[in-house]
Amino acid sequence: MIEELKVKESMNIKFENFVDTLAGEDLLDKTQRVNKVLESGVMTGNEALGMVTMNKVQPYSQIKEKDGKIHPVIMLGSNSYLNLSTHPKVMQGAQEALERFGYGMGAVSNYAGITDIHKELEKRIADFYGTEDSIVFASGYGANVGIISALCGKNDVIINDSANHASIFDGCLLSGAEVKIYPHRNMKYLEKILSKIPDYKTGRLIITDGVFSMDGDIAPLNEITKLAKKYKARVMVDDAHGLGVVGKTGRGSSQHCNTERLIDLNVGMLSKAPGGLGGYCAASKEVIQYLRLYARSYFFSTALPASVAGGLNETFKLFETDSAGREQLWINIEYLKRKLVQNGFDIGHSQSAIIPVMIYNEPVLFEMYDRLRKLGVYVNIVTYPAVRRKECRLRLCVMKDLTFEQIDKAVEIMTDLAKEFGVINNLV
Ligand SMILES: Cc1ncc(COP(=O)(O)O)c(C=O)c1O
Repeated sequence: MIEELKVKESMNIKFENFVDTLAGEDLLDKTQRVNKVLESGVMTGNEALGMVTMNKVQPYSQIKEKDGKIHPVIMLGSNSYLNLSTHPKVMQGAQEALERFGYGMGAVSNYAGITDIHKELEKRIADFYGTEDSIVFASGYGANVGIISALCGKNDVIINDSANHASIFDGCLLSGAEVKIYPHRNMKYLEKILSKIPDYKTGRLIITDGVFSMDGDIAPLNEITKLAKKYKARVMVDDAHGLGVVGKTGRGSSQHCNTERLIDLNVGMLSKAPGGLGGYCAASKEVIQYLRLYARSYFFSTALPASVAGGLNETFKLFETDSAGREQLWINIEYLKRKLVQNGFDIGHSQSAIIPVMIYNEPVLFEMYDRLRKLGVYVNIVTYPAVRRKECRLRLCVMKDLTFEQIDKAVEIMTDLAKEFGVINNLV
């Protein structure tokens, strides 16, 4: 099969074709099939996943290729948009907590895994959203899975934007609730779904990313909250990529859409702009108390290290006064977007630090991604299962500390390659 593919020079390997256990096969045989594809020389887009980063998150980075070669890249693939993971005050906060509590918590939060540093973080997050309380999970993925599966069950309906993050869909699956999906940002379709839910399906939850992780656009929270009111649904927003970046003072998608206080479950990740690790939910005190007992990824998983919580307390101090450098980040975002559009790239409808560069052709995507990295530009490669194959793209993430020279250089390299591959507007 592999040989056949090589002969055809097909680069469009569908990994899902290799992962079923065939009749009579050993469970682990599928791992060999996938590895054979990877070793066959046929490009799959997975070759350059898992490169090793050799320094702190910064715009000019060193990465180690799989053959051991280390080379510099302009970093357009990090979610540390505000460079807070290396901010001196944040690092100092982390170091002080490390000294006090050591490097691991050794227990789940409900036992001995929580400190006054964690409690301070939960209070800061609740104050940031103006809610009664918040809960911090050790991972963002775990936050979504835990929150959704704790709150929703077989008698409930969850309605999702089709572009929601994988962790949301995994939480939905685990919950056992009925799951509905509306096309990305399509409010007519959302209303159609809501209007058809039978009365006996009492619990209704609309879930949306605030800023969509693969498109960089913002959910229409205004309309979503209106529809939620009309059809008696609750609203959960995962603002992983909105926190600290969008909104007048960086309070995220809800601030951008003027829907603060209308969201029932303000979920976010501490791993993107905050530069740390973890996820949270800010909500009423009853909801948070319930989650502390029923969110299994909280109850049955060791707490976030105090050092990370200590660093995050400093990031929230910076967020509270909007002094984390958001203005400079936006100068860079606008600059990069302008350059890309001027040079003929299709960048979708980004409204955040995530800028998709649409390629629409997987073999070209794989080649471009590989060549770009070797030429010194690190971007993310995005295709199935993160998005539909025909909507495959490169994803650029902007950081506050990037210089205009670095942005110019990256766009110049991208443009030369895009011309070679014929993926930019012909007028350029
Ligand atoms: C929208 C969204 N939600 C949740 C997550 C999961 O967060 P974490 O990486 O902190 O586990 C991510 C990150 O990949 C994300 O982009």
